[in-house]
Amino acid sequence: MQEINRMDSPVCPARLADATLADPEVLECPYPTYALLREEAPVFKDPNTGIYVVSRYEDQRKIALDYDNFSNFRYSNDHSSLKGNARLAHERFLEKGWVPGESLAARDDPNHKQMRSIFDQAFRPKRINAIDADVEKLAYQLMAEFVNDGHCNFVHQYAVPLPLFIICQQMGADMDDVWQIKKWTDGWIKGLSIGLSEEETIYYTDLEIEAQHYFQAIFERLRKTPDDSLLSDLVNLEVPGWGRTLTDNELHAEMMQDTFVGGSETTTNAMAAGLMLLDKDKSAWEQLSSNPDKYLKTFCDEVVRLETPTQGMMRVAKNDYELHGVQIPKGAQVDLRYASGNRDPRHFENPEAINLERKNAGSHLGFSTGTHYCLGAPLARRELYWGFKAFIDAVEDFSVIPNKNNLRHLPNYSLRILKELHIEFTART
Ligand code: HEM
Repeated sequence: MQEINRMDSPVCPARLADATLADPEVLECPYPTYALLREEAPVFKDPNTGIYVVSRYEDQRKIALDYDNFSNFRYSNDHSSLKGNARLAHERFLEKGWVPGESLAARDDPNHKQMRSIFDQAFRPKRINAIDADVEKLAYQLMAEFVNDGHCNFVHQYAVPLPLFIICQQMGADMDDVWQIKKWTDGWIKGLSIGLSEEETIYYTDLEIEAQHYFQAIFERLRKTPDDSLLSDLVNLEVPGWGRTLTDNELHAEMMQDTFVGGSETTTNAMAAGLMLLDKDKSAWEQLSSNPDKYLKTFCDEVVRLETPTQGMMRVAKNDYELHGVQIPKGAQVDLRYASGNRDPRHFENPEAINLERKNAGSHLGFSTGTHYCLGAPLARRELYWGFKAFIDAVEDFSVIPNKNNLRHLPNYSLRILKELHIEFTART
């Protein structure tokens, strides 16, 4: 069956009255809808979710930096009010595993800042520099495995293993278990889908509990015998002001959300998106591949700007708040739709195009801003850099294989996930 490439036929509501981000068809190529919202309703109450979607760049920055009026609180952390499948999952965690604690991303300062300090210590520049050599080596090794074939599934053979192997190494996992861990993280993402049945909820919760038992053994080992991995620091460092290290429940929340999914899936998606962008804009490929030393850094930022792997992140209004004449009530969920801000013509000139000379490319919100600025951005940037560099060094030209790909993204409200990308290429001689 020939797959339809939705990116070529985006769904755009003709009227604001029809707009919603709850429709998987809109999310498949959301950019025309974002443009409509930016122009006609910069603060848009989605009729299907009740979420207030903020779509302009400056408004997103303002809210991300306004800690008096907006919180990173997650309703899922309020266990007393859980209902339906969320309660079912909670009870299963209580019975068979660990109820995930409040993650770093779900906390507010000063509590967040205290916890973040041990993460900053673990992700210190010296350590990221030390990991850089491993990232470079792995990128060239992975390329070498298929460069003589003239074709590959770029997602499965390259974009997944590069960040995944690195994070597994840093999280103390056995390299033989990498693909098992990938199954758990894939399950975790699917477990976030809207409208799951009870059976599906049980299935995905049990998968996460299986992963918890695997990671628990690593926590215990690292408590007894610390090493120089990132996880060893997270397990053993005392949080300033708390008088204790992280609990098992807090560590389990970090494993899935902030490290394996937040830290691996996002980078995978950026790599795949980058290749799609280059396939569509061959002049950008020629410019980039002719002088990667000059253009690669900007290209990596352009990829995160244009295809924003984390399309949006939630805040909760702490007070009644008015913006562009819209009243956001206290307690409302607000979606900072970074992927829309990153294409806002008020901030980026000709925003829909890759521009390898763009002066303000690095000012995108793909890694957010302020106190919750992505902890892993320096690592992600190195992974993207070496990922594309090794590709450019090995490949003279490439194209996405027609009719062999399902280029639909996994239906997900926040993450932009390409499942496969079969390409053919001419290797450099
Ligand atoms: C291209 C890759 C990545 C993208 C697009 C990305 C995106 C983001 C975004 C948008 C946020 C801010 C969320 C907010 O506004 O509330 C964030 C936070 C975070 N990211 Fe990343 N991320 C990437 C890679 C990584 C990596 C490699 C790691 C770790 C290994 C990581 C760990 C985290 C953590 C722990 C936070 C929470 C920080 C805090 O709340 O203080 N990310 N990321």
